Amino acid sequence: MKKILIIGATSAIAEVTARIFAARGEALFLVARNAERLQAIKADLDVRGAVRTATATLDVADVAAQQAIIDQAERELGGLDIVLIAHGTLSDQGECEKSVAALRREFEVNALSTMALLTILANTFEARRTGTLAVISSVAGDRGRQSNYVYGAAKAAVTAFLSGLRQRLAKSNVDVLTIKPGFVDTPMTANVANKGALWAKPDAVAAGIVRAIDKRRNVVYLPGFWALIMLVIKHIPEAIFKKLKL
Ligand SMILES: NC(=O)c1ccc[n+]([C@@H]2O[C@H](COP(=O)([O-])OP(=O)(O)OC[C@H]3O[C@@H](n4cnc5c(N)ncnc54)[C@H](OP(=O)(O)O)[C@@H]3O)[C@@H](O)[C@H]2O)c1
Repeated sequence: MKKILIIGATSAIAEVTARIFAARGEALFLVARNAERLQAIKADLDVRGAVRTATATLDVADVAAQQAIIDQAERELGGLDIVLIAHGTLSDQGECEKSVAALRREFEVNALSTMALLTILANTFEARRTGTLAVISSVAGDRGRQSNYVYGAAKAAVTAFLSGLRQRLAKSNVDVLTIKPGFVDTPMTANVANKGALWAKPDAVAAGIVRAIDKRRNVVYLPGFWALIMLVIKHIPEAIFKKLKL
């Protein structure tokens, strides 16, 4: 039985991932902002077979409150084997171009809060010399595009942070998994009108997350074809890239 902390547990991707863990009889500590949604998810996971579930509310931007929540999760579950960090907001790029306050808010939620959580978690996992830190970044962090470069820059910061953390923790036998989904049909992307062939359902991404944790992967694109797409996008010369409408 694995002891699993999920931060951003009301996210569509996290919820479906938690269902897979529950069906395997794992113990889960769920953290999110919305207490009512958390209770509903907890009840569902109990029915699906989770050996134990508990919840706590946290606005991840409240960095000072993070340590107490992590301590609570450790106490409730009797330690931690896996942490999945899944919260995020799809920034309003137009607003961020007009407002430094909006830019800072997006960075606080999508980058700083995650790096703060990882700073706390890395030290306990390093001392314990076991476990997995799995974090949802995004393909958007692989190259900034005019349509969402604030969100992309925040995810790029998370991706770079995870790369360094993985190197640091490798000698302590701690796995650090960078999860890079492409387009996923969730509440975050509800405003996108035309969802074409590149779009995935949360179930497919969740299955990929659990598989990557089990296989102790380092970086995973979900679905896998995004690795090829981003390889191409990363290699487009700037002279051409700046003229594209992406
Ligand atoms: N959907 C995509 O196309 C896509 C692609 C690549 C990466 N991702 C990443 O995948 C992860 C999961 O997103 P999703 O697609 O499952 O979207 P989602 O269902 O909208 O989930 C986002 C979650 O983040 C939580 N959240 C936002 N701000 C928070 C805060 N300050 N404190 C605590 N929780 C906060 C939201 O909680 P509330 O309900 O309380 O707002 C919500 O549960 C995110 O990191 C996202 O950036 C998504």
